[in-house]
Amino acid sequence: MLSSTVDRLRCPACGESVTLNANHSLPSHGNDSGVIEVRSGRLTCHDCDQSYPILAGVAVLIEDVGSYLVHHVKGISRLVPDSDIPKAFRRDYLQAKAEIGSEHIEEDLEAERVTALYLMNHYLSVGIGARNPAGLSDWWKPAAGESSPLVDDLIRSYWDRGPLTQMTDWLVSRSKKQKIESVVELGCGVGGLALRLSPFIRTYLGVDSSFASIALARHLSLGLPYDRPIRVPADLIAGSVSREVRIPAPPLFDGRIDFVVGDIESLPLAPESYDASVALNAIDMMDDPARLPELQAQLVVPGGVVAQSCPYVWSEAVSARLRESLPKSVKDSATAVERLYENAGLEIRERISHLPWLFYKHARQLEIYSVHLFLADKNS
Ligand SMILES: C[S@@+](CC[C@H](N)C(=O)[O-])C[C@H]1O[C@@H](n2cnc3c(N)ncnc32)[C@H](O)[C@@H]1O
Ligand SMILES: [Zn+2]
Repeated sequence: MLSSTVDRLRCPACGESVTLNANHSLPSHGNDSGVIEVRSGRLTCHDCDQSYPILAGVAVLIEDVGSYLVHHVKGISRLVPDSDIPKAFRRDYLQAKAEIGSEHIEEDLEAERVTALYLMNHYLSVGIGARNPAGLSDWWKPAAGESSPLVDDLIRSYWDRGPLTQMTDWLVSRSKKQKIESVVELGCGVGGLALRLSPFIRTYLGVDSSFASIALARHLSLGLPYDRPIRVPADLIAGSVSREVRIPAPPLFDGRIDFVVGDIESLPLAPESYDASVALNAIDMMDDPARLPELQAQLVVPGGVVAQSCPYVWSEAVSARLRESLPKSVKDSATAVERLYENAGLEIRERISHLPWLFYKHARQLEIYSVHLFLADKNS
């Protein structure tokens, strides 16, 4: 965690500010920001004395730290030595570590293959440029054998024009008309929106409950250490993630951008502190989707901007609850979610009903979602 981030964080249990205690840190290098990267240590609440560990640079601002460490052991144990786990939680953590299953499931956001799919989505692009240096060109083609003309065509047509690009375009165009200097992103995953926005904004903070995703976000967007090779899928005969990619990390961290582990339902953030709040493809993972627009609205200042996108892959239980809570006249997911945002006092200004969003599963499989996205205003 960067030393400059501490002022933006709050205790998720009681909402008070927190103090930073560093055990091991890296000094700033090559710039004069004075910002320090804390690799291990803790944050302690000023009021309720709860403390939150910083592990491999990742601040874990979750109310029930012990339960978090057990449930996210797969991602944590790939990067954090056992000796860094706080003593009070170490026994349960080590027991959970001994029981880790080797196979991945598609929903397990601590699994290496799952975060690999997201990091491709966020950090690899088709056009040669800053995010796609020559060494990574044609990353979607298998190293051996013929490649698929259809996969090639779909990637070239849609890969670089997904929700991250559209949200960036909207926010940048808005920033020409109103102040959009500070952005918070809920469910930021591996954090690829931050670098896209960084030339246009002053600060960005990303929050996600996946430890593996936040560690990757901090490496790929801030250039902070990551002690493992980064691998993505190619041909599954070679394994589930067989191609090592070297994604150039930006040279410096200067304190403008950071990412922390937190839960959307119990945010470690102060209200009315941001010009824009963004949540991409996260609302369908929440038990109570109506909470997301309320929380996004609370985070922004009056007159601030709220952005949302999603393919609405609801679980059966959540869709049943949504149908129950909304008028019978609401019959589709996009209308339902727009209604939730309007109910939270937000006014939708820009929308796209269907935007293709591609996931590269391997050289012979693409997953295509059709995403609904919009930008809304919180009235002043
Ligand atoms: C479908 S992924 C989308 C990631 C990224 N926003 C994108 O569009 O590529 C949903 C993300 O939300 C995160 N998430 C889900 N529920 C969460 C919660 N309650 N608190 C924080 N993050 C959550 C997941 O860990 C995951 O990274
Ligand atoms: Zn507290």
